Amino acid sequence: MTIADLVAVLTTDCNSNQAITNPATKPAREINTLWWAMFAGAMVVFGVVVGLLVLAFVRRHRSDDASDDDRGPYMVIIGGGLAAPIVFLAILFGFVIHVMPATSAPPGPTKLTIEVIGHQWFWEVRYHGTPAVTANEIHIPAATPVDVRVTTADVIHSFWVPRLNRKIDMIPGQVNRIELDAPDPGVYRGQCSEFCGVGHAQMAFDVIVQPPGKFRAWLRNQAAPAAQPSGADATRGQQAFMTVGCQDCHAIRGTPASGRVGPDLTHVGSRRTLAALTIPNTPRSLYDWITNPQRIKPGARMPGFASLPASERHALVTYLEGLR
Ligand code: CUA
Repeated sequence: MTIADLVAVLTTDCNSNQAITNPATKPAREINTLWWAMFAGAMVVFGVVVGLLVLAFVRRHRSDDASDDDRGPYMVIIGGGLAAPIVFLAILFGFVIHVMPATSAPPGPTKLTIEVIGHQWFWEVRYHGTPAVTANEIHIPAATPVDVRVTTADVIHSFWVPRLNRKIDMIPGQVNRIELDAPDPGVYRGQCSEFCGVGHAQMAFDVIVQPPGKFRAWLRNQAAPAAQPSGADATRGQQAFMTVGCQDCHAIRGTPASGRVGPDLTHVGSRRTLAALTIPNTPRSLYDWITNPQRIKPGARMPGFASLPASERHALVTYLEGLR
């Protein structure tokens, strides 16, 4: 890595939409400060150790004429190996204890409660007090503390939106809580942070922070049952959905489809991406996904439907993209 590469990493990656070094909330800012303090401390220790190595190398030909009462080497061991770590780690411990409360969940329920359930490999999102269920997209109102309750339907996952708050584990049979309170509208990328199988790296999501009015309109729409198919193609697509097997795994509220293995598709057409941010939500990529999901996201639970006639697959796409 050249110096130019290092500068590029520091200026681009540190400002990416998934970097703890690009905080957008108060808890994330505290974590950022802690991170830089740890980084600086680690660099100092690294510098001292490299300095000692260089010193040892430079003096390697000196004969050992130290007398028995020369305590220099012992002082290096006791000072550098014992006293300094105790002091540094105690300071770091105090710093962490100071930062932790800022990243904790609110003591009681807040105005809005959201439930996020981890699946291999997507995120199910439910809004308390409404029938709205979505996937891989968490919409929240700006400048509003949101109580996020996380758990999992299968293995351990970890919920992490680096620009908004710390990571929190999603554990079977247990509900963990974290607060999201973003002051500014925007899209913040999140990522599963606990290895959970082959699809782990492709288990991402977006937190979409909206002005409160826009958020309420969005939630009203998501809570409503699915739109009726409009046009012959979409109607044919709906019939295919209910007969070729899609409805066994996916729910579309307002229709007989009520599977819970895969994402709820009631308003899938309104989402920005598919397959947990793996591909954009366009008719072309949805068609490819239905045809061969394993090529796009190896390990995905979804079987391919390449054996369906292409016209059926196009009809499915027309129906699903119409569910806005
Ligand atoms: Cu879910 Cu890693």
